[in-house]
Amino acid sequence: MRPGFPAPTPLLPMPTRALAAVNPHIFRYKWHFLGGVLFVILSTLLTIFPAQLVRYSFDLVNEGIDLYHLYAGTQSQAGVYQLFGRNVLFYGMVIIALALLRGIFLFFMRQTLIVMSRRVENDQKNQIYQHYQSLPLSFYRRHSTGDLMSRISEDVGRVRMYLGPGIMYFLQLVLLFVLVVPLMLLVNVKLTVLTLLPLPILSVSIFYVNNLIEKKSDDIQRALAAMTTFTQEAFSGIRVLKSFVRQEDSSEQFQVSTNEYKDKSLSLNFVNSLFFPLILFLVGISTIVTVWIGGQEVIRGTITTGSIAEFIIYVNLLTWPVTALGWTSSLVQRAEASQARINEFLDEKTDIVSRHNVEREITGDIVFDHVTFTYPDTGITALRDVSFRIQKGQTLAVIGNTGSGKSTIAALLCRLYDVTDGTIRVDGVDVRDYALTSLREQIGYVPQDVFLFSDSIRNNINFGLDQPDEARMSQAARDADVYDNIIRFPEGFDTKVGERGITLSGGQKQRVSMARALVKEPKILILDDSLSAVDTKTENAILDSLQRVMKNRTSLIISHRVSSVKLADEILVIDDGQIVQHGPHATLMAEADGLYRALYERQLQTEATVD
Ligand SMILES: Nc1ncnc2c1ncn2[C@@H]1O[C@H](COP(=O)(O)OP(=O)(O)O)[C@@H](O)[C@H]1O
Ligand SMILES: [Mg+2]
Repeated sequence: MRPGFPAPTPLLPMPTRALAAVNPHIFRYKWHFLGGVLFVILSTLLTIFPAQLVRYSFDLVNEGIDLYHLYAGTQSQAGVYQLFGRNVLFYGMVIIALALLRGIFLFFMRQTLIVMSRRVENDQKNQIYQHYQSLPLSFYRRHSTGDLMSRISEDVGRVRMYLGPGIMYFLQLVLLFVLVVPLMLLVNVKLTVLTLLPLPILSVSIFYVNNLIEKKSDDIQRALAAMTTFTQEAFSGIRVLKSFVRQEDSSEQFQVSTNEYKDKSLSLNFVNSLFFPLILFLVGISTIVTVWIGGQEVIRGTITTGSIAEFIIYVNLLTWPVTALGWTSSLVQRAEASQARINEFLDEKTDIVSRHNVEREITGDIVFDHVTFTYPDTGITALRDVSFRIQKGQTLAVIGNTGSGKSTIAALLCRLYDVTDGTIRVDGVDVRDYALTSLREQIGYVPQDVFLFSDSIRNNINFGLDQPDEARMSQAARDADVYDNIIRFPEGFDTKVGERGITLSGGQKQRVSMARALVKEPKILILDDSLSAVDTKTENAILDSLQRVMKNRTSLIISHRVSSVKLADEILVIDDGQIVQHGPHATLMAEADGLYRALYERQLQTEATVD
């Protein structure tokens, strides 16, 4: 879209190419849709028909009064009065009955079309969410969380506005025009042309004003989002905020952000305030024209006073759809932009796909064969020509400074990314040939940045299981050395963590996260710096129990601490993405000028000072 000006969209809300994507959804609810069309037709017919009755009754009243005066002083005057009263009453009743019936049809019109739009909205949200789940990590690095969320809520909501109110009012408008304008022309051509003249102006101005309103609403939304983010962050970081004595400063910043929100809201209110008077003014002009010109025609005797009444009703009937035309056009325009954004996401394909869908139980023989990896988005080469082998049941440790590429090895093994060069084989089969779920289900991965859901500890540990088992869970918690901590909480395993729950210490979180991987009884266990926040005593206890649990399984232990890796069968020392040393603890210690020895001595010193 061109900045500054609203895009030159046709005023008629025709479904465009991007919006064609929702047609299959409409088709799924075709009965709702067709029912909706039927009820729009019925209710519109019942809107128009009473206008004719009104004209008829008006003229009847006129004639009745004339007749009544004619019979003045005679016996039959009372009879005339009665007859005429009964007639008027009858028409009045019919008009009321029709209005009631129309109300019923309007009810069903909303029950079909608006219900359809809500269901499609729901389907679309689920479709998008499901699609999100299939997309690779690189996708999530390219898009912010807010962006992903607004696709699912805001954009889908705008498409719903097109499907529900947009289609509904557009149908109403077309029908009304097709039926009413000929009726008006039948009454009087000149009057019709003159009264309809202000309506296009109304429609076009509403289109522009509405675009302005929507733009301002968006600004308000953004200001609100900024305010929410700011507040949320301030509350999450309240400890930092207080300890650095920044309360005043924070309050001032908050004031700036609320002021912005206020200014934008006032600006929207200003436009809104002009909006309705403008509509009423233009509608008023039409009514005045009808009465004025119509009156002249009545004097000339070309039409009756009843026709004026009928005309005023018609003009009023047309006002709303004409207003809605401008409104629905801008609505469709926005829906189109939103659907285009949604389509852009739905068209995005994951590049992590299985080549052969191999599904088999793995034994855990891992080979990295000249693996080189460059992160696609940053262009950082994290691994260079890395080759090693872990035999089934063995433990390999990877040690190195931060940023040396350790976590990347874990990510590649889980296929969160695909290698740039070389191959990774598990049991002799390229990881790209495994069915993704089969491979990942057999790997227990404890990522470096621990994440626990705001849920019970039980659900956090059993996260990867379809059928949780109490005994397995307790055992996993024991192996991760967190069982005693958990049962000391007031509600044991049912204790909630995260927001509105208890706060776990860093080490406790790491161990719960580890229990989550252990409970899967994986064939391959990957610990990515998962013991960094526990003390050396707990670390040793965990490593001990891991040796028992992982006896027939393969483990990859990543750490920057020598204490975590020294028991491993083999140790890889990596530096700047390359393997610089390789061997068991004793061998590496013997290399006097190696990086391993240097790390060991450095850490021994810090530990000595800490203790
Ligand atoms: N998701 C990512 N996207 C782009 N670059 C990354 C990503 N993760 C890590 N890197 C970069 O790759 C290099 C290796 O990182 P990493 O494997 O996390 O090291 P370590 O785990 O040894 O600290 C670093 O230079 C880091 O900046
Ligand atoms: Mg790391």
